[in-house]
Amino acid sequence: MKMAVVFQFVKRPTGSGAQCRKCPIVVARRDGVVVGYALATSIAAKSHVGIVQTMLRAFPAPPNCYLYGPVCVTESERGNGLAAMMYQEMRKRLPGRTAMSFVRFDNIPSIRTNRKMGKMELGEFIHDGESYIVFAFTS
Ligand SMILES: CC(C)(COP(=O)(O)OP(=O)(O)OC[C@H]1O[C@@H](n2cnc3c(N)ncnc32)[C@H](O)[C@@H]1OP(=O)(O)O)[C@@H](O)C(=O)NCCC(=O)NCCS
Repeated sequence: MKMAVVFQFVKRPTGSGAQCRKCPIVVARRDGVVVGYALATSIAAKSHVGIVQTMLRAFPAPPNCYLYGPVCVTESERGNGLAAMMYQEMRKRLPGRTAMSFVRFDNIPSIRTNRKMGKMELGEFIHDGESYIVFAFTS
């Protein structure tokens, strides 16, 4: 019988900056083996990143917003809703806050999982010639 997935929160290492240390990483393990992870990061900590700057010019972040992602689920666990489960865990940790994320337009699995979670689709932006969809959700 398959063991249940267990969720764990990992703190960023010291040296990540005060803003980053407040934002957790969700790690999903099955039978002790990492099967997925999801990162939350403060807007301030990522404000120097070009793609984040492009997104925020098009879609200014509401107060108390954080960036959600990257998210990754190991291949053998995909299609079972694990990405949504990690997001639920993250929301419990950051209640009342808005999560913003962006997904490349051709990443169909990620777009589908974001839509299934009921996230609001804010629109699209283009960075380095690629189109990205922006999602937001307030707990
Ligand atoms: C995007 C990702 C996190 C989704 O995780 P997940 O736990 O599989 O999400 P879901 O179970 O909700 O499945 C989402 C979609 O993946 C697709 N999918 C289903 N089974 C799959 C499989 N075995 N392998 C790949 N994709 C699959 C389907 O399109 C599914 O949507 P549907 O259920 O409406 O048909 C995962 O595919 C992943 O880690 N991809 C690589 C990293 C990545 O692109 N991360 C996101 C960057 S923004």
